[in-house]
Parts: sequence; structure tokens; C-alpha cells
Amino acid sequence: MKRIRWGILSTGKIAGSFTEDIKHVPDAEVVAVGSRNQATADAFGNKHNIPNRHSSYRDLANDPDVDVIYIATPHVFHAENSILCMNAKKAVLCEKAFCIHAGEAEKMIQTARKNNVFLMEALTTRHFPVIHQVLGWIADGLIGDVRIVQADRCIRGDFSMEDRALNSELGGGSLLDLGIYVIGFSSMIFGGPPNKATGFGFIGDQGSDEQGASLLEYEHGALAVLTFALRTATVNDAYIYGTEGYIKIPDLFAVPNKATLHVDGQNIIDFEEPILGNGLHYQVKEVHRCLREGLLESPRMPLKESLQIMETMDTIRAPWDLKYPNDSTHIL
Ligand SMILES: NC(=O)c1ccc[n+]([C@@H]2O[C@H](COP(=O)([O-])OP(=O)(O)OC[C@H]3O[C@@H](n4cnc5c(N)ncnc54)[C@H](OP(=O)(O)O)[C@@H]3O)[C@@H](O)[C@H]2O)c1
Repeated sequence: MKRIRWGILSTGKIAGSFTEDIKHVPDAEVVAVGSRNQATADAFGNKHNIPNRHSSYRDLANDPDVDVIYIATPHVFHAENSILCMNAKKAVLCEKAFCIHAGEAEKMIQTARKNNVFLMEALTTRHFPVIHQVLGWIADGLIGDVRIVQADRCIRGDFSMEDRALNSELGGGSLLDLGIYVIGFSSMIFGGPPNKATGFGFIGDQGSDEQGASLLEYEHGALAVLTFALRTATVNDAYIYGTEGYIKIPDLFAVPNKATLHVDGQNIIDFEEPILGNGLHYQVKEVHRCLREGLLESPRMPLKESLQIMETMDTIRAPWDLKYPNDSTHIL
């Protein structure tokens, strides 16, 4: 089978992990990297054995050897970088959060459609085998109607302004960085956007939200109760409570290797699946499946859902004293 050729846009932490994990996909090949300067492109290329090294993202986008580009820059650049690559007729896998606000998401989706190219948000969690099993249990009615989702994605980091994590100029903050995991999880479980979305966010010295919580309401009063934080660690479990039982995905639920089904207070089934590397290759397999089937978006991570998640996040943070350089919020 002809290999699918990847380009890596940027040379930061997750770009390195992704480039390692992609080795678990036999029909994938990383052929190019693009950085803002030649030295970092060369260093990354040497480390990961990548032949084509570009000193600009534009040159990477125009590399004729590349089929699909993985975008791993800070959040404020996701829309611009994705649009650059799609206009060069490249398929794109763009890191989470998809972008800064729903208006940018709309532009990204329009650009994908105009160029007839594949686009997907790299919200990795839903591509893990454990999640496929959890969705199967729910679809089979084993926990009845889903009424409450609880999930936490909170870490303790000592971030400086150089780090993108809390730097609002780079689109930092707990909502876009980690809230995306719990909001994306809730969206996947309920299969659509909430009817109402609210949340608190604490804006710290670096001008971005250090921590927050969100309450989402879905049809028939179903709820999601979610937290996200960058300076305070919690246990990062997720629970899905139904009328007949519940499912627990233990810490770290966003990178899941286990789930337990409980019915009538009994632990009925444990499902476990060890993770290779960081587990970032599951989403690569999904991109390959879509490309080989001629799909322009993934049914597991549809573009409409990425847009709806951005709208939910816009709504949650609209009352907060938080502004990004390329900001604008859409309220549900
Ligand atoms: N899926 C996951 O598990 C996961 C985990 C962590 C992060 N992420 C996401 O991946 C993205 C990158 O996160 P990261 O932790 O890898 O970030 P990072 O280590 O800070 O790397 C970001 C890279 O973006 C490029 N860049 C372009 N403009 C920049 C600017 N003005 N300032 C700083 N860097 C700039 C740089 O590459 P060059 O110098 O080569 O241009 C830099 O190395 C974010 O969207 C984040 O949310 C995902």
C-alpha cells in the first residue's frame, strides 16, 4: 500500500511526541518538517530522521512530497497555519483547541471545502479503543439514558510567560488548553452541543484563565459538570452517569487505557487496552482511514462538532475578562 506522507508544522513538545508516535502506523511516513527558522527545522529533522527541512511554514505547505500536515503551533496560529496549508491543497490535522473562536473555525471549514481537502481537529481522546468500547456500552443501553457527565482535566504547572500555556498572546489559558478535553468529551457523549453553557474562569497575573469550571445543560436537563486548570492538579477521571448505571474512565481519562462499567452498584466489566507511546497514533489511523476512503472529514470528529465546541467555549468565556489578539466570541 502506498504510504501517506506527513509534514510536521512546528518543532515544539507535542510535535516531537507526535512524530515518535506516528511510527506505530505502518503506512505513515514523516517526510518533512517546517519551522520558523532553518536551525530548528534541521535539529528536529536530524532527531527524527526527516529528509525535507523547511525554514518557513509556507515552504512546508508547498512541499510537493507532502500529503497531509500536522499543525502543532500555539492556539492563536492554528487558523492561519491550517488555512495556509489547505490553500496549498494539503490535508490538515490541526491540534486542539481547533482555534481561538468560532469565527475562525468557520473560516477554516470554508477553506477546507473550497479546496476540497480533508481537515480534522486533533482531539485525540475519542480515537482510543477504550472510548470506542465506552460508546458501544452507551449505544447498547447498558447504563440507560445518560443524565450526567463529570470530567476533570487539571494539571499543576509552573508556567512562565515564555510558555504558551498561560500566555494570552499565544492563546493560552485553561479553557482552550484543557477545557477543550472535557467539553469535547461531553460533546462526544451527548452527541451534540448543549442548550445552555456557563462557566467561571479565574484570570491570573499572566492575563489568561488559570482555572475554570463549566456547567452545560443538554436535552431533558441532562448535565455536564466540568473543571479545567493549569496551576492545580485534580484527579483526572471522567464519569458518565445513566439512569441504570455508570461508566468510569480513570485518570488520565483523556489518554484512556481503562474503563469500568457499573450496573446496579456492581462492577460488571473492566475493559483495558495498553497504550503504545503517547497514543497519538490512533488519530493518525483515523486520518488515514478517511483519506483512503476519500472522506473530507472524520465521522468521529466532524467539522460541525469542532465548530460547535468553539461556540460553546466562546459562550463560556464571553463574560470573563479575557481577550486574545485575534479575538471575537460567538454566543450560543
Ligand atoms: N494532543 C495532545 O496531547 C497535546 C498535548 C500538548 C499540547 N497540545 C497542543 O499542541 C499545540 C502545541 O503545544 P506544545 O506544547 O507542543 O507547544 P510548544 O512546545 O510551545 O511548541 C509550539 C511550537 O509552535 C511554534 N511557534 C510558532 N509561533 C510561535 C510563537 N510565537 N511562540 C512560540 N512558538 C511558536 C514553535 O515551533 P517553531 O519554532 O519550529 O516554528 C514552537 O516550538 C497546542 O495547540 C496544544 O494545545 C496537544
